[in-house]
Amino acid sequence: MTFEEIKNAEHENIMDTYARFSLAIVRGEGVYAFDEEGRRYLDMGSGIGVNCLGYCDPDWAAAVSKQAATLNHCSNLYYNPIQIELAEKICKLTGYARVFFGNSGAEANEGAIKLARKYSNDKYGAQKGRNKILTLQNSFHGRTVTTLSATGQNSFHQHFDPFTPGFEAIPANDFDALKVACGDSVCAVIMEAIQGEGGVLPLDPEYVKKSAAFLKEKDILLIFDEVQTGAGRTGAFFGFEHFGIRPDIVSMAKGIAGGLPMGAFLCTDRLADVMGKGSHGSTFGGNPIASAGALVVLDKIPKLYRQITENGEYLRNELAKLPGITQVRGMGLMVGASLKDGLEAKDVASACIQKGLLVLTAKTALRFLPPLIITRAEIDEALAILKTVLEEQCA
Ligand SMILES: Cc1ncc(COP(=O)(O)O)c(C=O)c1O
Repeated sequence: MTFEEIKNAEHENIMDTYARFSLAIVRGEGVYAFDEEGRRYLDMGSGIGVNCLGYCDPDWAAAVSKQAATLNHCSNLYYNPIQIELAEKICKLTGYARVFFGNSGAEANEGAIKLARKYSNDKYGAQKGRNKILTLQNSFHGRTVTTLSATGQNSFHQHFDPFTPGFEAIPANDFDALKVACGDSVCAVIMEAIQGEGGVLPLDPEYVKKSAAFLKEKDILLIFDEVQTGAGRTGAFFGFEHFGIRPDIVSMAKGIAGGLPMGAFLCTDRLADVMGKGSHGSTFGGNPIASAGALVVLDKIPKLYRQITENGEYLRNELAKLPGITQVRGMGLMVGASLKDGLEAKDVASACIQKGLLVLTAKTALRFLPPLIITRAEIDEALAILKTVLEEQCA
């Protein structure tokens, strides 16, 4: 098929929800994606932070293929040993007591929200109405009706009324605002370590530390949405580790299964038994093939933390030297770059595609979520292309 044929078939058959770039990807290898004509693109977005081991890592592909030929699906009505092996590894690696597997970030957050509300209802009584969840302005937590309610960006709060009640967005990095908002009806607060879709904005470590201590005193649960920041993205398994805190509930997805749909939420020991039988479920959650992929990710990613940290620092330093970039931020290999007035992130990303580079945007910023296996030489290759594009756009 030619690109035009692909584009037309998409237009005729798929709901028009995605503003796609003019590019079709048909295969991938390492950090490179290839289009239908065999042209190569260095992918600094890894499918929005999913392909953490790059495209088609041979060990990952072998494990997934083997599992596909052994047991493709197993209902959660039965015990599924590979899912259990994965759960044991995740709990051991993270120090959390229990995990629940779903399929996406939004589903992971839905579960985290249910767990927080059930904990509060069980302990304080449903009639007390202690079920409100505070979220941060400019956050993003997913596209389901409830996770849209949790998302602190008004642009998402149109067209789909009525939304799930019980959420209030407070300003990020404002400890006094958090204290004031934590009234008797609040059961939890949800935060991202770095607001990814919001523009790659890391939270202030002091704010996070103070908030965590305050919430603990009030028995208000702290939920970290690590959907974008988790699975090693920031140079630690979870982004919150950089703040020296430990949330009660953590959600994750994206990179965890290295390119297969998987989401999960984890909880500490004291919440381990809150979700009893029948309280939650997911047909595909912890699917054996996705679990096989995730086991390879869990084996490989912790060995890369140092490389992720060093390469992230290098990327941020070098980006700051490029024309048209006014500010660079992030942690590990989750990096955002603001552009000077007059430069549009979407235009820069489109021009990069023409030159064989894929970059993401987040609001008005450029966003980089490269595969965690990326080498210094590959980063240099990406920077060289971006430099040419920015020089042209600034001229
Ligand atoms: C922080 C955060 N939470 C939740 C989501 C939703 O994840 P999914 O698209 O897998 O439902 C995203 C997706 O970008 C995200 O970045």
